[in-house]
Amino acid sequence: MDSLKTLIPCLCVVLLVSVFSFSEARDFVVGGKKSSWQVPSSPDQYNKWAEKTRFQIGDSIVLKYDGKTDSVLEVTEENYKSCNKSNPIKLYSDGNTKITLDKSGPFFFISGAEGHCDKGQKVEIKVLSSNHGHSPAPSPADNHHLHHAPAPAPKKSGGSGLKAGFMGGLAAVGFLAFV
Ligand SMILES: *[C@@H]1O[C@H](CO)[C@@H](O)[C@H](O)[C@H]1NC(C)=O
Repeated sequence: MDSLKTLIPCLCVVLLVSVFSFSEARDFVVGGKKSSWQVPSSPDQYNKWAEKTRFQIGDSIVLKYDGKTDSVLEVTEENYKSCNKSNPIKLYSDGNTKITLDKSGPFFFISGAEGHCDKGQKVEIKVLSSNHGHSPAPSPADNHHLHHAPAPAPKKSGGSGLKAGFMGGLAAVGFLAFV
């Protein structure tokens, strides 16, 4: 029984780590799977969608539209806010645009069709930096689980002994928080 209790949290950690480190670049259709790039039914529709999505470096966004009547402009924040189409960073009008998010930070896209941006056909994409703040650090909740099993005796060898001590400390803190 004890070994099972130890095994389960370990498996969870392994699973989490593999999910985070092996996650592949993904394609996101702007607005949701079946959505197309057009004047939305409510003005903040695209940004509501974007806020729910965690974009990471290497992911791509996909926009589908009629290239004869519409386009996608990547613009500065200033021009995004004012729907200014006059000097885009990039212009796409092929009707099936895939844009790879190759760096962190915000990206701003507006429609190139007259008046569409003003009606809400615009989106801000926030790309998370992969190195900061989103690694799966063990949470106190995980330490609770660890503590149900007998605490492992600190190992004798230098480096891992230090590490074991550190983990033991973490577990103790978790245990105190639990009590
Ligand atoms: C639109 O942007 C361009 C360059 O980014 C600028 O020169 C122009 O004044 C802007 N127009 C308006 C109406 O803000």
